[in-house]
Amino acid sequence: MNHLLSTEYLSATDLTRILNMADEMAEVLDRPIPKVPTLRGKTVGLVFFENSTRTRLSFERAAKALSADTMTFGSQGSSMTKGESLRDTALTLEAIGADLMVVRHYAVGAAHRISEWVDVPVINAGDGTNQHPTQALLDALTLRQRFGKLDGLAVAIVGDIRHSRVARSNVFALNALGAEVTLVAPATLLPTSLEGWPVKVAYHIDEVVEDTDVMYLLRIQAERGGDQVVPSLPEYVSRFGLTEQRYARMSGDSVVLHPGPMNRGVEIAHGVAEAERSLVLSQVRNGVAVRMAVMLTLFGAHHD
Ligand code: CP
Repeated sequence: MNHLLSTEYLSATDLTRILNMADEMAEVLDRPIPKVPTLRGKTVGLVFFENSTRTRLSFERAAKALSADTMTFGSQGSSMTKGESLRDTALTLEAIGADLMVVRHYAVGAAHRISEWVDVPVINAGDGTNQHPTQALLDALTLRQRFGKLDGLAVAIVGDIRHSRVARSNVFALNALGAEVTLVAPATLLPTSLEGWPVKVAYHIDEVVEDTDVMYLLRIQAERGGDQVVPSLPEYVSRFGLTEQRYARMSGDSVVLHPGPMNRGVEIAHGVAEAERSLVLSQVRNGVAVRMAVMLTLFGAHHD
């Protein structure tokens, strides 16, 4: 693997190999000194054109746990404000010494374009509405830890699917690992075409609440126009929100996931976010181990 840009081309074998390495990285992170020297001398460029809390910080923590140096680029305050192009910016970061680039951008395909211009591995940390592959990997790791395997799991992804790179990456990764995915959303928050998507569709959360093993909630992405196609927030909550009453109807073995950031009181009730079967913080924690595993894979490195 030269880059990680999408989950669409990853097989169950590819995914399982990364998840197995992430299990080893989780063990490293549990040590009294949670660090290995494997990437000493390497520099990881964190190239963020869009805001992030979890992804940026967990990539930074992951790089440092592997003893790599990091170099952070944010478009605000950079020479892009003076008209520098994306290509010139990427080539500049490579010339300064980035041995790998982690790229988040608001435009679909931006990480892919950069991967064509530079000679170092590129990880897509989210490109517009398209893909966020390390999020899908950390979600798969969280579910594998909980259930042992993903084969046969019923997963409902509920919310603003249309604007969600997390949904796209998860649909293909979860399907490859044998899970059965149902998308739950109003028609206005579904993609215009689901051709080629291995999913079922439902239009009310109550259709899936008692039968799902995994309730995966997504916020409405106002920054991409999601709020413009939901006429009434109370009505949205009544049809798609995971309230405490609905949580109580879910099976005792089922779990709740959310990629963050959460809008408590909309897609997820405060009490559900805090509930015993909410794995939100496990997802965040697993992001570090998964990102370590992905960087090691792209560098072709073996840790001690
Ligand atoms: N899940 C996720 O990508 O969160 P951030 O936007 O905070 O990185």
